[in-house]
Amino acid sequence: MIINFLGHLHPVFVHLPIGFLAIAYVIQYFLKSSTEKSRLIDFVLAAGIVSSLLAAFFGWMLSLSGGYEENLLDWHRYTAIAVCIVSIALLGYKWYKKEEYKTPYYHAGFHLMMLSLLLAGHFGGEMTHGEGYLFSAATDTETGVVVEKREKEKLTAASTVSVYDGIVEPVLAQKCMQCHNEKKKKGDFQMHTIEALMKGGKNGKAIVAGDPDHSEFIRRILLDKGDEKHMPPKGKSQLTKPELDILSWWVLHDVSTAQSVKEVSSNDTIRKFLSDGEMKSSGPAALDTIAPADASGIAALKKINVAVVPLSSSTHFLELNMVNAPSFGDKDALLLQKISPQVMWLVLVDTKITDAGLEPLKSCTNITRLNLKNTAITNASISLIGQFNKLEYLNIVGTKIDDAGLLNLTPAPTLKKIFCWRSGVTTNGVMAFQQKYPNIEIDFGEKK
Ligand code: HEC
Repeated sequence: MIINFLGHLHPVFVHLPIGFLAIAYVIQYFLKSSTEKSRLIDFVLAAGIVSSLLAAFFGWMLSLSGGYEENLLDWHRYTAIAVCIVSIALLGYKWYKKEEYKTPYYHAGFHLMMLSLLLAGHFGGEMTHGEGYLFSAATDTETGVVVEKREKEKLTAASTVSVYDGIVEPVLAQKCMQCHNEKKKKGDFQMHTIEALMKGGKNGKAIVAGDPDHSEFIRRILLDKGDEKHMPPKGKSQLTKPELDILSWWVLHDVSTAQSVKEVSSNDTIRKFLSDGEMKSSGPAALDTIAPADASGIAALKKINVAVVPLSSSTHFLELNMVNAPSFGDKDALLLQKISPQVMWLVLVDTKITDAGLEPLKSCTNITRLNLKNTAITNASISLIGQFNKLEYLNIVGTKIDDAGLLNLTPAPTLKKIFCWRSGVTTNGVMAFQQKYPNIEIDFGEKK
């Protein structure tokens, strides 16, 4: 902590020796001789020496925090030490020689000091701003680091580029790589290649494929923004919510580099990311065309603790979530009829709903996600579920629906994914269903 703080003083102090020593040089070679001139040089040189010793000390503290390219760091370190030694020797020599100090040695020493100063400054600049900084016309405005910022391609749901190349890497390039790249490896962590990313940093692997909860990489970006370990650090451009979701999703899905955007475009996280920013112009056409829901209908639902949330700020379509209404039952389901056209996501997890209660919901024809997890729903509701012809996501985890029910389902052409573990469905049922509908993904795992 204290080392960190002292290290941060280096960039502040480093300008002092540069100023003092350069002024000493100017006085020596551009000012007319006088008795005052010699004393002025003494004074300015002494100030330059004190400040360069301080800057060197703070620089040493800064180097302990790591993350700099060793090669450049060495050059910067040695040339900076040279500045200290040569300037001390120069002043010592001048005092030792008293009035006769203007010898060729003295002048050689003065030039050598200036040369070391220029070099130390140059290597320091390369280190913080990236190599070639001096001669590059323009660099990243925020950090000065030249990061190859890949143009974010115009991604669409049909893009065949991989999720990693098309989405993940550009996000990392924009928000992380100015500190975690080939040259600059803060925390010994680099992200410029997938191999470096998987290798991790000074605390070992930062990504556990398939397990975001145990991935330092994800933990850091989820930390509170005020937390010292939060990434990107305070004051830097932060991840947006869709970017954050994408990174978690990618880690959860085994950090694949092969999967194309197209293959996973039906996934909500991916879709949200793709539509982020252009939601208004090219979002699903139907989204803006629905009228506002009946206010009394919403009020009645809210009264029994149903969360009624618009799917986005620009639509009247709703998500209904019964997470705070565990006693929600068949009778309550009737309340949905008033707002049935607006219901798009319906989450009935852990409620008391039964087949009889689901029946009146057939008027909710715009449902795209139906989550019936841990309810008493049985095969009797299968034909009703088949009538939701915009359904994309169906969760029957922990219900009584079995193989016969699943195989009786006439899925909507839009259906992409069914979650069905801990239900009556068996592997045999899943296999038979997959044969009929190879494009529908079935999640039978124990995740979540
Ligand atoms: C402004 C510079 C900067 C940016 C931008 C930045 N980091 Fe860091 N990162 C650091 C520093 C400094 C450390 C080392 C200190 C620490 O551990 O907090 C670090 C450490 C880490 C570590 C720990 C590595 C280890 O093994 O200890 C992870 C993981 C990490 N960063 C992830 C990220 C991610 C993900 C992003 C982008 C979303 C990001 N960083 C953006 C400066 C940055």
